[in-house]
Amino acid sequence: MSNYTEEINRRRTFAIISHPDAGKTTLTEKFLLYGGAINLAGSVKGKATARHAVSDWMQIEKERGISVTSSVLQFEYDGYCINILDTPGHQDFSEDTYRTLMAADSAVMVIDASKGVEAQTRKLFKVCVMRKIPIFTFINKLDRDANDTFELLDDIEKELGIATCPLNWPIGSGKEFKGVYDREKKCVIAYSDTEKGTKEGIATEIPIKDEAHLKEVIGEAAADKLLEEIELLDGASAEFDLEEVRKGDLTPVCFGSALTNFGVEIFLKHFLNMTTTPLPRKADIGVIGPTEKDFSAFVFKIQANMNKAHRDRIAFMRICTGKFDANMEVRHVQGNKVMRLSQPQQIMADERKILSEAYAGDIIGVFDPGIFSIGDTICMPKEKFQYEGIPTFAPEHFARVRQVDTMKRKQFVKGIEQIAQEGAIQIFQEYNTGLEEIIVGVVGVLQFDVLKYRLENEYNVEIRLENLPYEHIRWIENKDEVDLAKLTGTSDMKKVKDMRGNPLLLFVNSWSIGMTLDRNKGLVLTEFGRN
Ligand code: G4P
Repeated sequence: MSNYTEEINRRRTFAIISHPDAGKTTLTEKFLLYGGAINLAGSVKGKATARHAVSDWMQIEKERGISVTSSVLQFEYDGYCINILDTPGHQDFSEDTYRTLMAADSAVMVIDASKGVEAQTRKLFKVCVMRKIPIFTFINKLDRDANDTFELLDDIEKELGIATCPLNWPIGSGKEFKGVYDREKKCVIAYSDTEKGTKEGIATEIPIKDEAHLKEVIGEAAADKLLEEIELLDGASAEFDLEEVRKGDLTPVCFGSALTNFGVEIFLKHFLNMTTTPLPRKADIGVIGPTEKDFSAFVFKIQANMNKAHRDRIAFMRICTGKFDANMEVRHVQGNKVMRLSQPQQIMADERKILSEAYAGDIIGVFDPGIFSIGDTICMPKEKFQYEGIPTFAPEHFARVRQVDTMKRKQFVKGIEQIAQEGAIQIFQEYNTGLEEIIVGVVGVLQFDVLKYRLENEYNVEIRLENLPYEHIRWIENKDEVDLAKLTGTSDMKKVKDMRGNPLLLFVNSWSIGMTLDRNKGLVLTEFGRN
């Protein structure tokens, strides 16, 4: 038993969030490097290899040279068993990217020091806030010219509404980057990129009190500026408080350069020290801790047709409690069936590994013969509880879908409903129209192509998509108190319903949302739909 508890307690499961190009991949590679999972940075998830290796589950991926799949990486470091969840960006940004965050216990936010907070970070951050998970910030690319450090922190606080607590402080940037000041140790760790591509070397540490030595190493001007900034910082920044970090109200911040391997291991150590073991989860029988029960898990993502030859679906689940054994019988609660999970596997960046056991905190993928839905609970045969469902996230792109051949109505409805059930798209209906005319909402525009491609290839249905100008959708949180017929918005607002009949409002811009709220006192709108 103790071994089992130990296994769970050494798990750390987190997602990395950032705007594309901030350095998420590079940072992940360096983490893997320290964990000994790879020998040379770049060999696991280098862009060139990732493009071919990650998956070939869909022609569209090959054509576009991108990966629609988000992956999980597991590695060992310093006695910890670490699961990193990738949150894909660029065109492959989709609702899955958000849902990945539902499986994580904390998040690492990577920010480009010359850019500050960017759009995708902002979006992903909102989900972290909703979940109240701890967020750790790595400000990257200090080897390039960076924005003023105080401004960067201010940007995070203002843009994201979270207090920051720098654990270290950069000394210069770009060609003048000299290292970081460690606030706890009260010493300067001098920058060196001589270890580039290998493990972080033994850093030179200079106590801040040893001013003469400091000036010798980093130069007089840099030393003077640093001393001034430290004084300012100590007076201005939030007190470090682990409780606040754990609640997601305060983000510890580290600075460094993932590319030249500076500050990454320092960050990783701080992170592991402060982040949390697998978190308890809400279920209909109350909150359940990771060691309280035997195996249980919930499905957070369904990936269709990863292997074209088999037309299979893979359901990804996050283990919430206990230990999973490949041969054990489990209950699929929503389907009310006792079964064995078929082909349990860990999906790594470029390979699938069949596994025999896994613990709370781990992510596994299982073969899905079309029975699982997002949010489903899997537990021991004698149990029957359900974990709290996964919210639906607001799509940002909308199109009206019409089938070209109206004779194929059945296949069209079946196809579109199945694809929606997997969570790749959301479907809405206008009041007063039938299922032959549907509004589709997606988080990332690529999903429109995926929908068209899959309907044609899997259901033999050709569709036409007509883009709609809406960019925002809101669920009516207090729908029982609101008379939809009397609700008045701006002239471009549209009332629709989702497949469960929940009323929603579509808006062209955020200004219209504000107007509608003003005109309808008591109306409560939300970006997260609940099942
Ligand atoms: P992402 O996963 O967040 O999209 O970013 P990724 O790590 O792929 O990094 C984006 C670009 O930024 C890459 O350059 C990468 O080498 C560079 N980069 C990452 N961290 C640092 C850093 O600390 N300092 C500097 N100077 N650059 C950094 P690229 O030229 O776009 O790609 P590549 O040809 O190097 O793969």
